[in-house]
Amino acid sequence: MDTAFLLNGETVRVRAEPTRTLLDWLREERGLKGSKEGCNEGDCGACTVMVTDAAGSRALNACILMLPQVQGKAVRTVEGIAGPGGTLHPVQRAMVEKHGSQCGFCTPGFIVSMAVAHLNGQTDHDDRLAGNLCRCTGYAPIVRAAEAAAAEPVPEWMRTDGVALGGGGLHPSCGDVRMVSETHLDAFLPQSADELAAWYLANPDAVLVAGATDVGLWVTKQLRDLPKVAFLNGCADLKGIEAGPETIRFGAGVTMTDVGAAVAESLPSYAELIRRYGSVQVRNAATIGGNIANGSPIGDNPPALMALGATLHLRQGDARREMPVEAFFLDYGKQDRKPGEFVEAVTVPCMAPAFRAYKLSKRFDQDISAVCGAVNVTVNGGRVTSARIAFGGMAGVPKRAAAVESALVGQAWSEATMAAALPAVATDFAPLSDMRASAAYRLEAAQGMLRRYFAEMAGQPVSVLKVRA
Ligand SMILES: Cc1cc2nc3c(=O)[nH]c(=O)nc-3n(C[C@H](O)[C@H](O)[C@H](O)COP(=O)(O)OP(=O)(O)OC[C@H]3O[C@@H](n4cnc5c(N)ncnc54)[C@H](O)[C@@H]3O)c2cc1C
Ligand code: FES
Ligand code: FES
Repeated sequence: MDTAFLLNGETVRVRAEPTRTLLDWLREERGLKGSKEGCNEGDCGACTVMVTDAAGSRALNACILMLPQVQGKAVRTVEGIAGPGGTLHPVQRAMVEKHGSQCGFCTPGFIVSMAVAHLNGQTDHDDRLAGNLCRCTGYAPIVRAAEAAAAEPVPEWMRTDGVALGGGGLHPSCGDVRMVSETHLDAFLPQSADELAAWYLANPDAVLVAGATDVGLWVTKQLRDLPKVAFLNGCADLKGIEAGPETIRFGAGVTMTDVGAAVAESLPSYAELIRRYGSVQVRNAATIGGNIANGSPIGDNPPALMALGATLHLRQGDARREMPVEAFFLDYGKQDRKPGEFVEAVTVPCMAPAFRAYKLSKRFDQDISAVCGAVNVTVNGGRVTSARIAFGGMAGVPKRAAAVESALVGQAWSEATMAAALPAVATDFAPLSDMRASAAYRLEAAQGMLRRYFAEMAGQPVSVLKVRA
């Protein structure tokens, strides 16, 4: 498949299998070995590259980025971070001066993440670097380097990709590459939801690729061949965010970074949950549609969306239907989706002052939830008038806690009522034991989240980041 993009300022046209990763191609075909292969599954950030399009510049993991996903964009690897004549970028200079590198394996990935944050004026260094793993230097000198570099102006050469793209996306010399079946693979790069709908109806056996934070691992870890694929990144109309007074409608292709930004003011607890979703690089790729469509029992969005009462919009050809998010998840690995049908959007109520979401994982950053709970209880005149409570990690699907909800509704809103409802968690869920948590721990953790919710609503400090002994 032909893909064309800017690479460190130079237009390149690539003929390769559509599911070839950018990292593999950079290292094997271009000899650009600065980007390292550490985990090859999006966890360590050693392969971080900067990708620029009309929406701006962001850090992405090249190991789970397939070549057609950068069609018409600008890619800058660590080799392209220094300026003309080898002038060091401020983050490179600061890393030297602050002793931010020992073995150096992680360093190219850190440099790119830091350069992107520097370009975008982002100074929340801990969050920016949570997707970059360093085993030997330790983070203090690296963060000191990021802080020192933040005081320096952005070098002009870091703005050249945005200028070359002209603010419009496709570089004029890149052309418009749509569909090629040069190899044994069929791949389609639709430019709108209408094009996708028509093609997918005719090719229901195809795999849709949105952010590839799941699908990328099918290729790199499971070594799966994907004989027919459609890449959703060209569908600008799937990336829309429509904010109304009471709801926000997200196109399926909106990234978790953009969802987080859109709900920061109206649903701060949801935004905080998203801050703990993977890492910057993962959130810059992963889409809300992919996180729902993959049907994972441990995806972070579905419990939050269920507790908020969100509506899922599905499309098959020209036919559209909608359903509450919870109705989509039928059983483990089984969703209510017809052949050729895809997730087009999700509409999220944003007037939910009593909504809270809690993520429990072994690490604070960049970790999959053992349990993810979301609670939204409405109280009128001291009585519970409605309760929407959902958990991930407690069953084969993300699911509402119907027995807990009915134990609360109609009762006085009190600690005693919450305590009386807690045993119902075991009626709603029979969780599994796995490497993340035992079944007993999960049950107790879910009950703990409900107790935490009551305490939080009563005004007690509950965040582990804020409570001090
Ligand atoms: C390092 C790392 C950390 C992660 N951390 C988290 C985390 O903290 N929380 C969490 O919930 N998840 C996490 N994930 C999982 C992953 O990010 C999500 O499942 C992600 O949202 C998938 O979205 P995507 O756009 O990347 O989907 P893709 O990988 O492109 O696709 C996933 C699945 O959905 C299908 N699909 C995609 N879009 C559509 C659509 N519009 N309609 C129908 N089907 C579609 C694809 O065909 C595929 O089956 C992590 C993954 C990685 C690699
Ligand atoms: S190699 Fe680890 S994130 Fe890409
Ligand atoms: S310097 Fe060795 S892993 Fe970071």
